[in-house]
Amino acid sequence: MRNRKKKNGENRLMNLSSLIISAEETDDLPSSAGFETGTPLRLEIGCGKGDFITGLANKEPGYGYIAVERVPDVALIAIEKYAHSRGLGKLGDHGEWITPDGILLKGTRWDIPRELSGNVRFFVGKAEEFLEYAPHDSFAGIYLNFSDPWTKKGYASRRLTHPSYLKKYASILDREGKLFVKTDNDGLFDFTLDSLDAEGWGVEYMTRDLHSPSVRAEIRTSNVMTEYEKKFTEQGIPIKYLIASPPPGII
Ligand SMILES: C[S@@+](CC[C@H](N)C(=O)[O-])C[C@H]1O[C@@H](n2cnc3c(N)ncnc32)[C@H](O)[C@@H]1O
Repeated sequence: MRNRKKKNGENRLMNLSSLIISAEETDDLPSSAGFETGTPLRLEIGCGKGDFITGLANKEPGYGYIAVERVPDVALIAIEKYAHSRGLGKLGDHGEWITPDGILLKGTRWDIPRELSGNVRFFVGKAEEFLEYAPHDSFAGIYLNFSDPWTKKGYASRRLTHPSYLKKYASILDREGKLFVKTDNDGLFDFTLDSLDAEGWGVEYMTRDLHSPSVRAEIRTSNVMTEYEKKFTEQGIPIKYLIASPPPGII
């Protein structure tokens, strides 16, 4: 994803940093995110500019959501989008955050009251850092949307559906937990199916054309579009989608 460095990016991240969880806090979810004990958790890795996480958290509010994005300036767009969608204010013309009370924040952390901050928190960093300490047996769903396909020879281990990642996902998913994968890329989709098979996962559902009328209505209506999905769908590229469960007995 090409993205010019954001002016005032660090200040803008600081303004809304109460929506961000740090690496040290990941092992104490959901409470470290300010969610009630027992809140079921969902994780998106590579959330990009945040359309999906904001849309899903609004559509299915009974979960606590963690969105991981490694590029700070991209995460910033997602965080500001989410905050704006929650009625927590808006970005001003000079990089300041304007709270609903009209307060202008310029690089000062705003301790957003828990009752206003909603059900999404962001982890600004690599998936690998998050997964290192993420709590075992604790996520109801993991979402990988249009993950980088890493097509160059020798880079397969960087794909987010490589067996090394699947092992981590199996460990942090709860007993009924599921992995949801969407991509435009046939090579990545085939690679994912092979990795799942090699690791003993069960594929519960798959389609190579998510938006086709032949796909079950409940699958199509529960779908939340991502930025990349909108772009590829407009170009007429079919979206590949699957739902998978980790091997039994791994927890
Ligand atoms: C191709 S974009 C897709 C963005 C969004 N999910 C969508 O569907 O529109 C992939 C995103 O994943 C992020 N990403 C890739 N590898 C990552 C990793 N290992 N950890 C965290 N984020 C990652 C990239 O920075 C980028 O924003």
